[in-house]
Amino acid sequence: MTIAELFETRKADLRWNTSYPLSPDDWKEYRVHGRLPFSNDMSLSFYIHIPFCRQLCSFCEYTRMLCPAENTQELYLRTVALDIQRFKEEHKGRKLLGFDIGGGTPTSLSEANFYCLMEVYREAIAGMPLSDDYEPSIEATFNTLSSSKLHAMASNGFQRLSLGVQSSCKSLLHSHSRVNCDEQNMAEWLNAAHEAGIKKVNLDFMYGLKGQDESTIIHDLELIERLHPQQVTLYELRTNMLAGQESFSKNELYCQYTQYYSGLIKMGYNAHFGQNTFSVNRHDEGTSSYLRKRMLNGAPYKGFGLAAQSMSSHGVSYNIGKLSCNPHQVLNATGYPEEYTYMLPPHELASKYLAVSAYNGSFSTKRLKDFGADNEQLSLILDFCFSNGLLRKGKTERVYITPKGFMHYGALFSLFINPKP
Ligand SMILES: C[S@@+](CC[C@H](N)C(=O)[O-])C[C@H]1O[C@@H](n2cnc3c(N)ncnc32)[C@H](O)[C@@H]1O
Ligand code: SF4
Repeated sequence: MTIAELFETRKADLRWNTSYPLSPDDWKEYRVHGRLPFSNDMSLSFYIHIPFCRQLCSFCEYTRMLCPAENTQELYLRTVALDIQRFKEEHKGRKLLGFDIGGGTPTSLSEANFYCLMEVYREAIAGMPLSDDYEPSIEATFNTLSSSKLHAMASNGFQRLSLGVQSSCKSLLHSHSRVNCDEQNMAEWLNAAHEAGIKKVNLDFMYGLKGQDESTIIHDLELIERLHPQQVTLYELRTNMLAGQESFSKNELYCQYTQYYSGLIKMGYNAHFGQNTFSVNRHDEGTSSYLRKRMLNGAPYKGFGLAAQSMSSHGVSYNIGKLSCNPHQVLNATGYPEEYTYMLPPHELASKYLAVSAYNGSFSTKRLKDFGADNEQLSLILDFCFSNGLLRKGKTERVYITPKGFMHYGALFSLFINPKP
């Protein structure tokens, strides 16, 4: 099949988005038993997964469960702390590039357990050198915040807080089993976060949700304008892991993104077309340092907790609770080790990097080559994309998606994915 034919075929295939691999079976041949080595990775980020939530939104693809009793929460945190200490003992001398605590909803923990999480964080970074632009970040929902949790975050160095809104439309959220607090409360929490010393707040919004249309997006934009967070992240609904499929065409999704993009740019946010993070500060990509390094450069990261993912220069792994068993069954385990470890060849590492970079609507051709992408094949695909106006060259070795390319971004990025040398 030619590159042009492959592109045409993939245009209609909704599975091609930012998920990679499309199915865990695609990596079957690379699976090994044991831990993912980080022997070549002297700089890396850490991630802690808190799989607990106070509500279970039907659109959510992440490993999450209703918040268990306080003693189970504490046991979970203590187990994660032990996993971190074990990893640190075996990997001395590493520098930390970033640290995200996500989920689930880390702030769904009880007050006492939230302090315990902060203690786990302090122990995790103790003795580790931090990169100059190290910027830890934590995820939350408005209705699980408290003033003491905000002070605990800020006093432990979390100056970036990411809060999910998804949509301003109450009935739309309700039909997805989600409730947000009202605007007045949101504004008060943003104020409280600022006063506690949190410098950057990011608000997550989604498009592609059933019930979303031009008018709900106008309301979302008006809400963003009034709340004026430092950063906004826009997620297109991914349905790969969900049973029910939602029903927007590529063209409708493109129009929804474009409406958000134009509105946010008009309000003064910075982003290039196709990027999913927006920032009032044009020198800031709108992400934490963990995501920035991971998304832009394919930097290694080690994930702790149920179902967390890790990537090193050797491969990718998923902790227990992600692929084979019900996370509830392993919640009280004595550790959350890697259950699936894949030692990946260079072209697969390059593909994984590309899938993550797709969120940014750009990628580094140099990084693809460093990972081991085949030079000749890469040039052929790039030529096809440039001559058809799907990608444009940036100032450095980065290439950026064009509006024409973004219409079929899944198909476009898939061209670079998995071309075996
Ligand atoms: C790990 S979730 C945690 C956020 C937090 N618990 C909340 O609900 O606000 C981070 C973000 O992923 C996005 N998200 C959740 N499910 C998604 C899906 N199926 N496809 C794309 N984005 C999704 C949402 O915007 C959410 O805020
Ligand atoms: S979107 Fe957030 S609150 Fe809703 S289920 Fe997912 S992680 Fe939990």
